[in-house]
Amino acid sequence: MEGITKLIEADLHKLELSIQGLLTTKIGFIKEIVNHIIKSGGKRVRPILIMLTARLCGYKDEQHIPYAAIIEFIHTATLLHDDVVDNAKTRRGSSTANIVWGNEPSVLVGDFLFSKSFELMTHSGNHEILKVMSEATTALAEGEILELLKTSDADTKEEEYFEIIRNKTAVLFSAACEIGGILGKAHMKKKISLKNFGYNLGMAFQLTDDILDYVSLDTILGKPIGTDLKEGKVTLPLIHALKSADEKENSYIKRVLEKTNMTRRDFERVRNIIRKYGGIDYTSTVTKQYVDSAKVFLNIFQPSPYKDALLGLANYMLKRET
Ligand code: FPP
Ligand code: MG
Repeated sequence: MEGITKLIEADLHKLELSIQGLLTTKIGFIKEIVNHIIKSGGKRVRPILIMLTARLCGYKDEQHIPYAAIIEFIHTATLLHDDVVDNAKTRRGSSTANIVWGNEPSVLVGDFLFSKSFELMTHSGNHEILKVMSEATTALAEGEILELLKTSDADTKEEEYFEIIRNKTAVLFSAACEIGGILGKAHMKKKISLKNFGYNLGMAFQLTDDILDYVSLDTILGKPIGTDLKEGKVTLPLIHALKSADEKENSYIKRVLEKTNMTRRDFERVRNIIRKYGGIDYTSTVTKQYVDSAKVFLNIFQPSPYKDALLGLANYMLKRET
C-alpha cells in the first residue's frame, strides 16, 4: 500500500484532520465511539479511491478531502451497524464498539455518522454527488438485508452471492470512483469507466475478504477467521465446494451452518472440504478476473502516476492480507 499512497501522502494527512474537523457534535460520547473505530487503523481504501480518481481526472481543488472524510464516515457507520448484526467481538485487532459500549450506542452512533454524512454533503450543493452517494447507501442496506435473508442457506446460488457483495461492498467502491470523476469534471465516458473500475475493484475486495476468512490468521486479520461460517454466511469458497461435495459432506456443512456454537474442529473440517474441491483456488481465480476487468476500464486514461497508483491498488486486491 505504501507505494500507492506515497503520491497522496499530504492529502491523507489532511484527511485525518478533516475527519476530526467534520466530526462536530456537543456530545463527547459520540466522538469517543467514532474515534475508537475510526482511529483503529482502517486502510482508508474508499477515501484513497476518491483522491486518486479525482487527481487522475485533473482535479486541482481541495473539495475531495471532505468527500473522502464523508465516505469514511459512511463506511464507519456501516461497520458499527454490521458488527451489531454479526455480533462481532473484534475488528482491526480491538474490541468492537458493541462489545465496549453495547449494541444500542453502536447503532445510534452509526445513525449519527450516517446522518452527519448527508448533512455535510448538502454543504457543497453538488446534487450529482449526493445522488451517487444516496443510491450507494440504499444499495448497502439492501445488500446487508439480502445477506441476512440468505443466512445459513446452503442452496445460495453464485448469482445471489454476487448480488449480495455487489450491493454491500462494490457499489460504495464504485461510488467513490465516480465521485472522483465528478469532481474532476470528467466526460461521461470516463465517469462510466471509473464507475466500472470501482465496481470490479470492490467485487475483488470482498472476494478477497471472503477468502481471508478461511485462510488467514486471527492475528494478521485483526478479527477471528471462520466468522463467516460461524454466522451462517455462505460465501463463494463454500458455494463452490457445496456443488461438488458428496451427500455426507453436504449434510455436514448444512449442520455446521445451522449451528450456533461452531467449534474450531467444525471449521477445520469444513475448510478441508472447501480445499478438497478447490473452493479457495476457484475464488482466487474469480478475484483475479475482477481485478483484470477493473484494469481494462483504466485504458481510456492517459498514462500518469495516478493511473499507475490505481493499477497498483487493483493488484493490491490480490495480495492484501488485512
Ligand atoms: C461488512 O461485511 C459490511 C458491509 C460491507 C456493509 C454493511 C452495511 C450495513 C450494516 C447496512 C447499511 C448501514 C448504513 C448506515 C447505510 P462483512 O460482515 O462481510 O465484513 P466484516 O468481516 O469486516 O465484518
Ligand atoms: Mg461483519
